[in-house]
Formats: sequence, C-alpha cells, structure tokens
Amino acid sequence: MNETRRAILEALADGPVSGPALADALDVSRAAVWKHIEELRDADFEIESGSTGYELAAVDAYNGPAVEFGLEAPFSVEYHDSIGSTNDRARELAAAGATDVAVLADEQTGGRGRLEREWSAPSGGVWVSVVARPDLTPPEAPLYTLAAAVATARAAREAGVDARIKWPNDVVVPEGDDGSYRKLAGILTEMEGEVDRVQWLVVGIGVNANVDVDDLPPEANATSVREEAGDVDRRVFVQRLLEEFDRYRTDLESVLPAWRDLALTIGQRVRVERQSGTVVGEAVDVTDAGALVIETTDEEGADGRVAVSAGDCEHLRPV
Ligand code: BTN
Repeated sequence: MNETRRAILEALADGPVSGPALADALDVSRAAVWKHIEELRDADFEIESGSTGYELAAVDAYNGPAVEFGLEAPFSVEYHDSIGSTNDRARELAAAGATDVAVLADEQTGGRGRLEREWSAPSGGVWVSVVARPDLTPPEAPLYTLAAAVATARAAREAGVDARIKWPNDVVVPEGDDGSYRKLAGILTEMEGEVDRVQWLVVGIGVNANVDVDDLPPEANATSVREEAGDVDRRVFVQRLLEEFDRYRTDLESVLPAWRDLALTIGQRVRVERQSGTVVGEAVDVTDAGALVIETTDEEGADGRVAVSAGDCEHLRPV
C-alpha cells in the first residue's frame, strides 16, 4: 500500500483527525490528503468526515489494502475478485523475482489441489498463495508446508473450529474419536530450485471459510468454517493465517512441536499409498523432514518402522 495512505490509516485508527492536522503530520498538502482519503474510500475503507475531522468507521472490505492494513507480517497482498488459480499467479510473480507476496482471491475458477486434482474454490473461501524465497535446501522445504498447516489450523481454531492436522497437510475437523474427519483446508506447495538450494516456494492454502458445504463436491468430504462455527471475518482470518505462517517460518525449530500438538494422524492406524507401494500400520511420529513414521507389522508378525515422505494417507478404523 502507498506509504502516505498507510500513514493516514494509522493516524485515523486512533480517533478522528482533521485534514489540516493530517497534512501537517504527513508533510503533504490538504488537497493531497483529500485525494488519498478518496482513494481509501474507493478501496472500501469506511471513512466518515465529521466536525472533528476524518474518522475510520469500519474496515469491512476484503481486498489487498484492507488485508495489508493492520497486518503484522511483512507480506504485500495482491487481491483478485476472481482468478484461475492463485498458485499460478504466485508462480508467475516468483519467476519474475518477487518475494513475500500473498496472492489472494475471493473465487478461483481453476483451483488446483495435490496430486493433480481439481480444487473447488467458490466465492466466500480463503484462497491464498504465498511467494517466499527461503534459505533452505529442497529436502527442508516440507517444513514450510507443515508451518502453513499449523498456521491454518491455528487461525481456524481462533475462529472457533476444532481444527486438527491430517498428515501431511490437510486441515480437518474430527468426527467422533475414531480418526474420521471432514476436510476444512488443503495446502499445495510448489517450488523451483537447484539440488542444494530452494530458489522460490509458493505455498497455496485453500480454506473453506464462508462457503456452503453443498457447494463443494460431495467426494471432497468437506466442511467449512460456516458449517462449524458460523461466518468469519475473512480479512481478520487471512491476517491471522499470514501472521502465524510468518511466525513459524521464521522459527523453523518450533514447527514440528506445534505440528505434533495439532496432529490428528499420530496414534491412528493408517494406510499410505505411495508410488513405490502401500504401507499400513500405526502412525507414531513425524521426522525433522516431515516424513510420517509408521510402525508396521507384517504377516509373520515382524515389526518395522517406515518413514514415508509423500503419499495419500487414509485413517483406518481401529482394529
Ligand atoms: C489439496 O488438499 O489438494 C491442496 C489444495 C490447495 C488449494 C489451494 S487454494 C489456493 C491455492 N491455489 C490453488 O490453485 N491451489 C491452492
């Protein structure tokens, strides 16, 4: 956001301020203050003018300037009412050298999920992709995905949803205590890099926020914030999500403990379909690189431990 407009909003956040006082404080003309106020109104900031000056009545908008306003994390926000895929746009920005940009949309018409699946993204959800250029090696990159899962689950919990994490990066709401769940959010991380260095990462996060479950595909086994806890202020939700993501990506040692605290998968009997075969057993931990550790028992009763770094994970009912 333009620095003068940001400064005007910060000044108005503390109460009414007159046009001349703003002009003096910001060292610009009164005409310039008026023009910036009009531009902020065009961006849907509700600014009233009264006898004591300009006053910020409400920030109800869901757009780039509104999300950037009050955001305590170093991301700029590029907002679209409708876009094919925020991940596709974030990849373009990353390839052009951008960093710390969050591409946000109200609706996606070509949302992409993991394993080349489609991702349904109607208006009302939180569809966001973050471009980052971390100082990581490619094997460390999954930590960013785990950090995003923790951040998403924590933002959802603040919104009143009993959100947990299903390995590797689904945010789900448990149904009963047998490991069954409905999916609230998913994460798709894409990257470019060399063998020893990540060049850029795009972390795409899709949260079924203010969405009717009937508008999502039945096979998605989905739930939404609306279904679980009622509609959420998406501006505040995305801000909390980005702030938590920033907190964990800048303190990577705290990611795994936080992930374990929120994990629904640990302790479950699971089946993981990998390209190299299926593993069935009890999920007991996650490694530093984010791989799921599964304790298996083969047909002869011999125990083993397998660390699975990628695959489709299914929670099985206890035997
Ligand atoms: C999954 O669970 O399969 C991952 C879904 C990821 C969806 C998000 S929505 C924002 C971003 N843009 C996309 O096209 N996909 C991700």
